[in-house]
Amino acid sequence: MTQNWSKSAWRAKPRIQMPDYPDLVTLQDVEARLSQFPPLVFAGEARRLKSELAKASRGEAFVLQGGDCAESFAQFSADTIRDTFKVMLQMAIVLTYGAKVPVVKLGRMAGQFAKPRSAPTEVKDGLELPSYRGDIINDLDFTPEARIPNPEKMLQAYTQAAATLNLLRAFSTGGFADIHRVHSWTTGFVEEDKSERYRDLSNRIADALDFMAAAGVNADSIDALQSVDFYTSHEALLLEYEEALARIDSTTGTPIAGSGHLIWIGDRTRQPDGAHVEFCRGVQNPIGLKCGPSMEVDDLKQLMATLNPENEAGRLTLIARFGAGKVVEHLPKLVETVKSEGANVVWVCDPMHGNTIKSASGYKTRPFDKVLSEVREFFAVHRDHGTIPGGVHFEMTGQDVTECTGGVRAVTDEDLSARYHTACDPRLNASQSLELAFLVAEELSAGREAARATG
Ligand code: PEP
Ligand code: CO
Repeated sequence: MTQNWSKSAWRAKPRIQMPDYPDLVTLQDVEARLSQFPPLVFAGEARRLKSELAKASRGEAFVLQGGDCAESFAQFSADTIRDTFKVMLQMAIVLTYGAKVPVVKLGRMAGQFAKPRSAPTEVKDGLELPSYRGDIINDLDFTPEARIPNPEKMLQAYTQAAATLNLLRAFSTGGFADIHRVHSWTTGFVEEDKSERYRDLSNRIADALDFMAAAGVNADSIDALQSVDFYTSHEALLLEYEEALARIDSTTGTPIAGSGHLIWIGDRTRQPDGAHVEFCRGVQNPIGLKCGPSMEVDDLKQLMATLNPENEAGRLTLIARFGAGKVVEHLPKLVETVKSEGANVVWVCDPMHGNTIKSASGYKTRPFDKVLSEVREFFAVHRDHGTIPGGVHFEMTGQDVTECTGGVRAVTDEDLSARYHTACDPRLNASQSLELAFLVAEELSAGREAARATG
């Protein structure tokens, strides 16, 4: 067990990006209730994810992490979850084909409710109010009452996370994710246009399955083809919620965050002596760490020593998010640090958070071209340094939204207002997500070719 750690020790550390609840009596009541509730995930599952991530750190698996920027109470529905799940299955098939290794599927789901913000207040039409911090904390409505942090929202977040996980578990193992259904994972609107490449690929997979059947291999008896492992992840920002769901794993006697399989530390809250690092260092879950342009070599060394003192493979995932055109400036020194320390990490590329801009029409958006460029730059750095690109991290949805510009359907600045539904950052829609998966698959096969040529 981690030395000198308790689940409430973060309270003595400097905290940022967390709400000051005006109603402390209700806060304590909610914390007490949540700490009686069952955990949402179990230690054995988190350990299995860790071993999958350990494979990704060695290039024997590839991580696909994706989902909403912020899950929303208002948009919660089975169809939304199903459609995001479907697109992730599609992307995973495309990636598996390119990478020729298993894809670890990790949703930004069932707990991704709390948001760090770049400014503490927002101004609209001359009125200044506290920023929206995610549905687990306050409301998106632009009124003074809506923006007051309300601890009871944690209970609704827990309930929604539990229902989401229940559905994800059913989709993963209940027949929906059976590879024989590869043709049916398309969402309505992707079906219409740019899915030809996906159709080709699913035809090839169907052929391979027919061949196996003809050759006497009974694919129905192979579990791996009938179900998938699907894991959950979120930013561990609201530490009252995280603490209340922390448990002791009865198998190992060590603490576990019961709120999701992997929890990550955001780029704004990764101070080595801060509250968020303190909480995460003591739970045995796999931990993600966002690395933005301000991450220095010494910070990274200190964070690796604090978060993964045993250098356990699969424990630490570094999620690089620098912005297109900036990867070459920032990533190589971090990659070299990891190399020279002999540290075990999974390198994941988040090409979303460094590429957010305000469009001419006033919406927060991300140009699809920039997202693609950052992915390419990430792979190029790893090729140059002989290190392993272990995965990708996207804000995406299965819905036909217009939040990021570009892509085959060429969403323009003027189109953004048509279906801009995100509660926070702009997400890739289903067709943009699939397009990106094909690009990543190409990068992965190019990497394999290059390795073969030099090996
Ligand atoms: C996020 O992933 O939604 C986020 C806020 O990321 P970052 O901490 O990298 O800015
Ligand atoms: Co975001």
